[in-house]
Amino acid sequence: MEEREAELKKIKEDVLNLTASPLYAYRVENNYFPVIGEGNHTAKIMFIGEAPGQNEAKTGRPFCGRAGKVLDTLLQSIGIDRKDVYVTNIVKDRPPENRDPLPDEIELYAPFLDRQIAAIKPAVIATLGRFSMQYVMSRYGLEFEFDSISKIHGQVFTADKFKVIPLYHPAAAIYNQHLLDTLKEDFKKLADL
Ligand code: URA
Repeated sequence: MEEREAELKKIKEDVLNLTASPLYAYRVENNYFPVIGEGNHTAKIMFIGEAPGQNEAKTGRPFCGRAGKVLDTLLQSIGIDRKDVYVTNIVKDRPPENRDPLPDEIELYAPFLDRQIAAIKPAVIATLGRFSMQYVMSRYGLEFEFDSISKIHGQVFTADKFKVIPLYHPAAAIYNQHLLDTLKEDFKKLADL
């Protein structure tokens, strides 16, 4: 098996067996799945969300609920097929009641994201929401550019091995037409890349 595929398979196994996670017991009690990531393993664009919601934890698939519909619409608006990109989250297990991921949880799961980035080698990372923005920018040498998402969304930053474009989280646009319009404009910049 090719090295990349072997590593992605290993990441999946490692997350499945992550009994050290504070979210592991909640996963097992609820018959949830961890959500590792989905899409093209040689994708040029990687989308990184926050953590799975209930629909995602029930199916094991990222962005398959209402936020996912918004993501699909945004991708369609720039003529990109979801199967051509890779979609994942920083935290791979569902936090109870969809609460924000805790710093310890981000710290525990982030190395799996780093391994996914290293295996897939995307040219562009689009962060969805402030948690993945904060993590990716500080981890990959863009901490000096870091500011609030309302200031830097839609801007393109150049890290060592890829570009980073921070985007609002699609869930924030479910009831907010203005944010949806902003996301559509920012997706056009993504298409330009
Ligand atoms: N929100 C996220 O951040 N990720 C998902 O997979 C679904 C909703």
